[in-house]
Amino acid sequence: MKGIILAGGSGTRLNPLTRVTSKQLLPVYNQPMIYFPLSTLLKADIRDILIIVAPEHSGDYVNLLGSGKQFGARFSYEVQDHPEGLAQAFQIADYFIGKESVAMILGDNIFTHDFGPAVRSFKKGAMVFAKQVPDAQRFGVIEFDDKGKVISIEEKPRKPKSNFAQVGFYVFDNRVVEYAKNLKPSWRNEYEIVDIDNIYLKNGELTVEKLSGDWIDAGTIESLHKAACLVREKGLGMVSESQIHLKIESVKKPTAK
Ligand code: DAU
Repeated sequence: MKGIILAGGSGTRLNPLTRVTSKQLLPVYNQPMIYFPLSTLLKADIRDILIIVAPEHSGDYVNLLGSGKQFGARFSYEVQDHPEGLAQAFQIADYFIGKESVAMILGDNIFTHDFGPAVRSFKKGAMVFAKQVPDAQRFGVIEFDDKGKVISIEEKPRKPKSNFAQVGFYVFDNRVVEYAKNLKPSWRNEYEIVDIDNIYLKNGELTVEKLSGDWIDAGTIESLHKAACLVREKGLGMVSESQIHLKIESVKKPTAK
């Protein structure tokens, strides 16, 4: 399976931090934000990864991540000229996806969940993931019936029909490219990921898994701070847990003279 990290966008909610750099390069405790979605893909054994970036920061991503060799992976890069929606990623990634299935992760999403088993079991259709949150109106919202069957998915509804948010990790078979190419932009002028979900849902080919563990969309000042605390506490990302704890210990306990 191929992987995509979507790391474009304008990051306006993190202004002025994002005035001179990309949101997904900002530090989250001890690592650039993109290390977290990257480690989530690598943990799921996805190693052929396309990183989609905004034009003004493209060089910085290549400087940071390079060919992927140091991570035991292969990285490709594409520029998204204008941030016209999450589903545009599949139009841009057409050649990269080819005949394979694809997992896409948002560059500002931090997970402790291991997607490996879901990715390995995926055959066809679409697989998305839900997590209960207190502020569902910030997200794509998934409504279930009492048997757990999905009824609807809506993007940032004013009145959410449930408190299950759709998190920023998606798995699609390669029909997603055709579906994305035929989408019409929404009222906010974006190619919406929920419109893709809804095509699969209508065809009876969408599965939703409820997520275990922590999940943070680090796209606001408050959630960025929470993310830093989570990373410090749990030692997530590409820098190993033992290294982080060693560093914390050395800050806490100055060596006696
Ligand atoms: O975090 C999960 C949520 O992510 C989902 O529940 C929503 O359904 C989904 O639309 C998305 O909502 P956000 O408001 O968080 O989307 P945001 O505009 O922040 O974009 C998410 C990431 O994708 C962010 O890292 C920027 C990047 N992006 C966004 C757009 C619109 C791009 O690279 N290109 C784009 O065109």
